[in-house]
This record gives sequence, structure tokens and C-alpha cells, in this order.
Amino acid sequence: MSSQKIGVIGSGLIGRSFTMLFVSAGYKVVVFDIEQSQLEAAKKDIWKQLVALESQGLLRGKLTKEQQFENITTTSDLKECILGSFFIQECVPEILELKRKVWREVDSLIDAQTIMSSSTSALLPSAISEGLKHKNRFIVSHPTNPPFYAPATEVVPARWTDPEVTERTFALLKEVGQVPVLIKKEVDGFVLNRIQYAIMGECYRLIRDGVVSPQDCDLIMSQGLGVRYAFMGPFETAYLNAEGMYSYRDRYADMILGIQQSFGPPERMDGPTLDLIQQDIAKVAGPVEDIGTRRQWRDKRLIALAKLKRDMDKS
Ligand code: NAI
Repeated sequence: MSSQKIGVIGSGLIGRSFTMLFVSAGYKVVVFDIEQSQLEAAKKDIWKQLVALESQGLLRGKLTKEQQFENITTTSDLKECILGSFFIQECVPEILELKRKVWREVDSLIDAQTIMSSSTSALLPSAISEGLKHKNRFIVSHPTNPPFYAPATEVVPARWTDPEVTERTFALLKEVGQVPVLIKKEVDGFVLNRIQYAIMGECYRLIRDGVVSPQDCDLIMSQGLGVRYAFMGPFETAYLNAEGMYSYRDRYADMILGIQQSFGPPERMDGPTLDLIQQDIAKVAGPVEDIGTRRQWRDKRLIALAKLKRDMDKS
């Protein structure tokens, strides 16, 4: 446990999650936002989430929810957030110019030891940090949403990031209960979204070509692939489905290549195929006006799965 200070910039969805993760390990977090109303809403929401996590038995760390909450301070003064923080997590909207502006300001306030970490989902770390005096201290820590129930966090250094920054970011994320994954090269979409969009692209083509309905395509994931993927990735799946990777190659590599070569080129989602997907998925997920109900349904299942995974990993 530590009583060191961490600064969080931006108190929206992701800023709140990071704040909760850091205080769960005993850090003192100072959250900065340009909107006072956001800071007030963030504190209320974080308390609500802490209460819910406690009732689900998913509160992280050794501190009570009250102790965790006491370690959060909010401020409208950037300096108060930055000065004395050894780690800064930026969670402002996904706009390159905005992120560059925020980091330029932070760059002028920090010392050479501070780690500057961005939550960006898709902007490359070199694009954000280019030109900063302390660009060797810059890194991306991209969480999966919701971070408490899906702990994988992509850690993406720029080519000029000090290896020590990557190591310390990894150590911190592990300490707060996340599962950091190193992305060794900067690439558009990092890894999670590249995989997600590859799946989405093929599903879209199969629906467009009349091979499967949108609901049935989702069933293949939720009742098939997704069930395995909750516990292991495609390569361990392959390993176990044969006698290791070489045996898998001998049995399936030619067939896999043939099928992969039949995939069509990417296409922008739109038009009649998108209409079909919207109408069919609305039959299970409900109308958009009532989307909150289905989100609650989803969150209940994500929570139960997070508990199951935690219990399985304990034994
Ligand atoms: P959000 O819109 O919920 O929150 C952004 C917050 O930043 C707001 O409170 C806003 O007032 C504040 N803000 C705007 N300009 C600011 C400035 N100059 N200084 C300080 N605060 C400022 O956004 P969200 O969803 O939390 O996203 C933040 C970052 O996290 C984005 O880069 C996003 O791509 C990334 N991310 C989002 C995920 C998601 O599922 N929403 C998942 C993983 C990463």
C-alpha cells in the first residue's frame, strides 16, 4: 500500500474508473476537470459505484469503501492535481488537439520523474507526445470498459518512451488489480480494437451476404466463441483443440488459409445491411429509448462473470 499521490485529468466515465482503481490500492488521487459540475457528479457517482462493488463482493484492495472515498480530492486547479503526483492519468475526450494542449500544460509543470499516461482509445502515443519536453515519460494506458469487470489494459509506449516508464506503469496497473498487456509497436487501434473490428467486419459481410441473421450471428459469439474466449484466447483454444500448435497446423492450417482468403474487403457499415442489423438486434436488446434496461441486464452478467473468473483463478 502507498500514500503517494496520483493526478487524474478529466472526471468522466474513464477518469472515474481510474480514480477508483488507484484509491483501491491506497493512493491519494487528485482529480482535475474544467467542469465543476462534472467533478461534483463524479464524486457522487464514485460513491454509488463503491457501494455497489461492496455489495457485489468486488471491492478491490484492503481498504473500506469509506477509506477509499476519503482518498479522493477534486480540484479546478490543474497545478493542485499535478504538483507532487508521481503518475498522471489523462482522461479527456478523444480529440488529438485537446490532448496535446492538456499535455503541453502538464509538461511545463512536472519534473523529470513523473509518468504521463493517457487513456486514449486510438490516438498514437507519439502523435500526442511529440514535441513535449518530457516525451520520454509518456505512455498510453488504454483500459477496457468497464475496467472493474474487464481488467485488460493495453500499455502502449511511444518509440521514445523510457523502458523504466513502461515497467513502472505495468507495476502500478498490476498493483491496482488490472491486467496490463504490452503493445510493442504503435499501430492504429492498438490490439483490442483491431481484433474487435476484424470480428465485426466479417460478421457484417456474412449478414450482408445473407449467410446468417444478425441475431444468429450474435448467438455464435455469445453461445459459442465468446464462452471460450471468456477464459482463453484463440491460440490456447487452438492448442487445446489439437495436440499443441504443430498438430493444429497439420490438421487445419490449409483449411484456415483458404477460408481467410475468401474474406471480402472491408466495407463501411451503412445502408440496408445496417438497417437489418438495427431492426433485428432491437428485437432482443429492446428499443433505443429503453436502452438502460438492457444495459442493466448486461452489467448484471458482466458482474457475475467477473466474480466467477475471480473465484476460478483463486482455486
Ligand atoms: P467523457 O466524455 O466521459 O469524460 C471526459 C471528461 O474530460 C469530462 O468530464 C470533461 O469535462 C473533461 N474535460 C474536457 N476537457 C478537459 C480539459 N481540457 N481538462 C480537463 N478535463 C477536461 O469521456 P470518457 O469516456 O471518460 O473518455 C476519456 C478518454 O478515455 C478518451 O480518450 C476515450 O477514448 C478513452 N476511453 C474511453 C472508453 C469508453 O468506453 N468510454 C474506454 C477506454 C478509453
